[in-house]
Amino acid sequence: MCGIVGHVGPLNSINPAGAPGSGRSLEVLLDGLSRLEYRGYDSAGIALVRPDDGERLTVVKAAGKLDNLRAALDEAGPAPATAGIGHTRWATHGGPTTENAHPHRAGTLAVVHNGIIENFRALRAEVEEAGRTLLSATDTEVVAHLLDLDFSARLAAGEAGTVGPDAAAALLVESMRAVTDRLEGTFALLAVTELAPGAIIAARRSSPLVIGLGEGENFLGSDVAAFVAFTTHAAEVDDDQVLLLTADAVTVWDAAGNVVTPNTWEVSWDASAAVKGGYETFMDKEIHDQPTAVADTLLGRVNDRGELVLDEMRIDPAVLRSIDKIIVVACGTAAYAGHVAKYAIEHWCRIPVEIELAHEFRYRDPIVSEKTLTVAISQSGETMDTIHAVRHAREQGSRALAIVNTYGSTIAREADAVLYTHAGPEVAVASTKAFISQITACYLLGLYLAQLRGNKWPDEVADYLENLGKMPAKIERLLAEQEDMVRELGEQLADQTSFLFLGRHVGYPVALEGALKLKEVAYVHAEGFAAGELKHGPIALVEEGLPVFVIVPTPRRPVLHDKVISNIQEVRARGARTIVIAEEGDEAVTPFADTVIRIPAAPTLMWPLLTVVPLQIFAAALAKARGLDVDQPRNLAKSVTVE
Ligand code: F6R
Repeated sequence: MCGIVGHVGPLNSINPAGAPGSGRSLEVLLDGLSRLEYRGYDSAGIALVRPDDGERLTVVKAAGKLDNLRAALDEAGPAPATAGIGHTRWATHGGPTTENAHPHRAGTLAVVHNGIIENFRALRAEVEEAGRTLLSATDTEVVAHLLDLDFSARLAAGEAGTVGPDAAAALLVESMRAVTDRLEGTFALLAVTELAPGAIIAARRSSPLVIGLGEGENFLGSDVAAFVAFTTHAAEVDDDQVLLLTADAVTVWDAAGNVVTPNTWEVSWDASAAVKGGYETFMDKEIHDQPTAVADTLLGRVNDRGELVLDEMRIDPAVLRSIDKIIVVACGTAAYAGHVAKYAIEHWCRIPVEIELAHEFRYRDPIVSEKTLTVAISQSGETMDTIHAVRHAREQGSRALAIVNTYGSTIAREADAVLYTHAGPEVAVASTKAFISQITACYLLGLYLAQLRGNKWPDEVADYLENLGKMPAKIERLLAEQEDMVRELGEQLADQTSFLFLGRHVGYPVALEGALKLKEVAYVHAEGFAAGELKHGPIALVEEGLPVFVIVPTPRRPVLHDKVISNIQEVRARGARTIVIAEEGDEAVTPFADTVIRIPAAPTLMWPLLTVVPLQIFAAALAKARGLDVDQPRNLAKSVTVE
């Protein structure tokens, strides 16, 4: 939650004929913030520094979305800067006001922060006792003052007025170390000071932060989206590291104060992957990205001998053969992907799979051993609850496998192995293509384990892979044939106040996901149920005209199919308006359906890759018909980096 971005260019940059990257901190920050806005959009702000006489540190901020900051900047008209930091906020301490927006200023410096400082009350009292007046309710402003108090003391200890920019930057590095040592909680902190206009000083603990390495300029961001328009060369930041960025150098110190060389990588996303590409919203675009997301997640997984290979699987095969239980830890949509995985992995591998919401996991003393494989599923790789679940599982001796979309993210780095989903950047807050690619990666994991443990013959694994390979084209066809009809349905039902979603077997997690999508983007009450559970209570909700979505399994699995047909009849008999998602050619549903959405045939276990798509389209259409911003729903943020 919250997005932060930093840029530092050359000091001669104020000269219009300056070096590349010159004076463009403002442009870089605004571009980065627009790409990070999905992480929080309660308020936004920037701090710019420049070496000239006159105003050397400018802070501009505004409550509300980034456009409000743009308007404030138009009014303030700041001069070109050599360095800057920016922030887009999801409020934790203090409401979403301009006063609480970052950056927070203290003395000669300004600070942006993502995370939560847990001991901020005691620190606030200390800062106030030192004579500082705080203007906001945030924990971050306390950190800004702590930094400035420490920094001022170090400056005063030197000879007054003789500290040059390099020495000032070095002193601020020391202050950052001293202050962050005292902080409890999580943080990615960036600071600039007017005394060192060519530098950004940063630190990180358990909140995301990555470095972008440019030519004669350098960048920082909560994730690579912050700078991908300017450089694709990125470097990792580990916990408790402190950094000094100048235009041509990045210095990283570890917790012990040693200079270390960060791991670097090339970002494979290009900037165009994070723009709407002609669609009205990111959610629309990402729904349409899904065939490619599945295809890319499957890419390069089969060797010359037709075997499934997972190169990233760094866990010893002997260990994988010995596991007797899998626990999936995840939150929200990612947990529903894990729920689908349970059906597939148990069926293919005969290993029990438990699904655990990551935030419940470590508090209930779960039974975890060296024979447990913990699978953490996360689009962002930064969900704090999931990070803690991974840490807890590893402390109990379990190996952790991460299924993650964001390269270099915390979960990816802390897990024993990573299976990357290749969905590309997901910008809309509501997850769509990440869900589908997480399910795809789970299938790969299940088939890999089945192959390794001998539960399936090679030709059986090859058959499943062949079927998976056909899914992108089927999603494509489904979009082409059903999208308009489903959109119209969403518009027609825009005034409804309640919806039910029913499914059995793998249709059950899809029902949960359909309900979640509608809740989060359209703010409508929606519930997902296992269809068989209806009679045990929820059927009391059914009344005349209530729209009920039912996901019907293929008629080729009559045991499941016929039971769901009975469930449709039960709700219809009580006046429900039934919207049925059924396989092409399944005429048994027709007499009981007010609307039928037709889906191409696919193996039962792979059905979620198709059936969820109309539910995503429906939620987006209904929300738009209500005049809502589907990409940035109220109260939410893309990456939940607080517990
Ligand atoms: C819903 C949604 C959330 C996330 C959840 C986990 O559309 O996006 O429920 O799935 O917050 O996020 P990640 O996958 O980043 O760990």
